Amino acid sequence: MTKRVRKAVLPVAGLGTRVLPGAKTTPKNMLNVFDRPILAYVVDEARAAGIEHIVFIVSRGQGAIEDYFDASPEIESALEAKGKADILAEVRADVGQPGQMSFIRQMAPLGLGHAVWCARDVIGDEPFAVMLPDMLMAARPPALAQAVDAYDTTGGNIIVVEPVPEGEAHKYGIVALDDRANEAKRGRLNKMTGMVEKPAPGTEPSNLFISGRYILQPDIFRILESQPRGAGGEIQLTDAMATLMKTQTFHALEYEGTTYDCGDKLGLLRANVAFALAHRDLGEAARAAIKALL
Ligand code: UTP
Repeated sequence: MTKRVRKAVLPVAGLGTRVLPGAKTTPKNMLNVFDRPILAYVVDEARAAGIEHIVFIVSRGQGAIEDYFDASPEIESALEAKGKADILAEVRADVGQPGQMSFIRQMAPLGLGHAVWCARDVIGDEPFAVMLPDMLMAARPPALAQAVDAYDTTGGNIIVVEPVPEGEAHKYGIVALDDRANEAKRGRLNKMTGMVEKPAPGTEPSNLFISGRYILQPDIFRILESQPRGAGGEIQLTDAMATLMKTQTFHALEYEGTTYDCGDKLGLLRANVAFALAHRDLGEAARAAIKALL
């Protein structure tokens, strides 16, 4: 019987240098994708997967994140007074539940592994999800829900993966699978044998990269505690997971959906266009506006 995944860690404390200067005063994950901040979509995804408590790992100057998920009495009463019920409902839907969001300061951007480690006391001794919010995933069911589903059958640890764009493997964490030879025949959920962060071109163990959703056992914290710095001088989550894999099972789940890397200017643009086109009310108007520009 596997323990239920109730908590998710969302590390947002990175500097976001690839989307500067936009991310200079607005935290990267608070940049808009059409009409909402990136983070709002990722919190939706967490909730849809049954997550009850979200732990944000933040840095200085990111107070906007806490404020966004808090009530906003002035805005809400102004909307009420103006009878703008639709937008009021949208604003309220993004407010967190009392006691179900935590904000932890990372103090210094020492790497993703270090960011996750900062959540150890709030997570305690239970499996948890990690969601990299700059990877926006459009999927049905949502990506983390697909991972939780897989976890319910395999237990252990799950890493969501997807095919890496040609020639870009050296930018990501790449997984090694049990049955690499059978690439053409393999299913979506495969036992892993290893992983490597940013492999040198030509040395990648598969064509699948770690795309930003994980379910991990709490034993990872003990490893992160003394994890030396890895690629880029940062404490890498991938290195700690590779150590944990010596004693626990890891499965790679090739999820069904589309990922937008909003940590990159063109990825953020793609996300904006895609989410505008898919918007319930404004999709048609957005299509006409984009067409007129081309
Ligand atoms: P990235 O590799 O995208 O780093 O981190 P970054 O600093 O955000 O962006 P660039 O490369 O400078 O443009 C992946 C995720 O891990 C978080 C980031 O906020 C992002 O969501 N992170 C990274 C932390 O929370 N702390 C860190 O020390 C590093």
